[in-house]
Amino acid sequence: MPSKTRTKPKQFNRVVRTWDEFWAEFWRIRLVGGDEATHLKSEQVVEYCWEVLGMKKSQRVLDLGCGAGFQAVLFAERGANITGIDITPVLIEHALQLAKHHNVAAKFEVGDMRKLRVKDPFDHVVVLGMSFGFGSDEENAKTIRNIYDALKPGGKLLLTGQHPYGLSNHLGPEWLECDEGFLLHRAEFDEDTCRLGGSWELACPDGTIIVEGENPEKDGVRCYTVPEIRSLLTGAGFSNVQSHGAWYLPPQPLQWFSMELIVTAHKKK
Ligand SMILES: C[S@@+](CC[C@H](N)C(=O)[O-])C[C@H]1O[C@@H](n2cnc3c(N)ncnc32)[C@H](O)[C@@H]1O
Repeated sequence: MPSKTRTKPKQFNRVVRTWDEFWAEFWRIRLVGGDEATHLKSEQVVEYCWEVLGMKKSQRVLDLGCGAGFQAVLFAERGANITGIDITPVLIEHALQLAKHHNVAAKFEVGDMRKLRVKDPFDHVVVLGMSFGFGSDEENAKTIRNIYDALKPGGKLLLTGQHPYGLSNHLGPEWLECDEGFLLHRAEFDEDTCRLGGSWELACPDGTIIVEGENPEKDGVRCYTVPEIRSLLTGAGFSNVQSHGAWYLPPQPLQWFSMELIVTAHKKK
């Protein structure tokens, strides 16, 4: 009998990349940004916001947590006077270039929604792509009050969150093949805090595994139920709070399996 020789497990070379390099530049801008599906979804989201909020040309719109500016540029193309704010400088840099490339007037600035203060209030505020909820519960409540203050009387808010009951569709490891290798996303949900977090790793063909370092979203995103978010919004002064569950027009009811929670609310006139 030939003796069985144990093959030594391959030693993977783990390389840590900053959140800006890995999540923002690689994932958000290059991988997601270059994807046709992202563009189509952004068009659908902007169309939905425009109709549901009753936006009009030249109105002042704030896209809070605007990321790489995919939707903000589309709002600008429709004639909105748009400002995008995001905490990640590399995404704002991309948004500025995108606006230039599309030849639209759009303002972008680096900022933290938890400390939002505006001099000139807005007709509408949108918080898209589940950008709301990365702070502590107190910080998220403060963000809602900041948004209320940033709106004109009669102004409208549309914000999206991760719907906690739809999470079962979202959990478990997910592999995605891309030019650089295989991207692994592990989503984790903490039932005690109702926060969704997780990690990203890129396994390259040469055995390198790229992992992300410290990141501003390390505590995950708070997944609010409808009663919780309604209470936050009415507590800040908002009225006419409505929730929906898909980006189709006419607005679709929220269902337990809806992944995104879409909430609209009005500031009193
Ligand atoms: C999931 S991405 C969505 C980006 C964009 N709205 C979209 O739909 O493509 C969440 C964004 O929220 C931003 N963000 C997280 N915390 C923030 C904060 N406190 N203030 C401003 N932006 C924040 C991140 O930098 C990131 O761009």
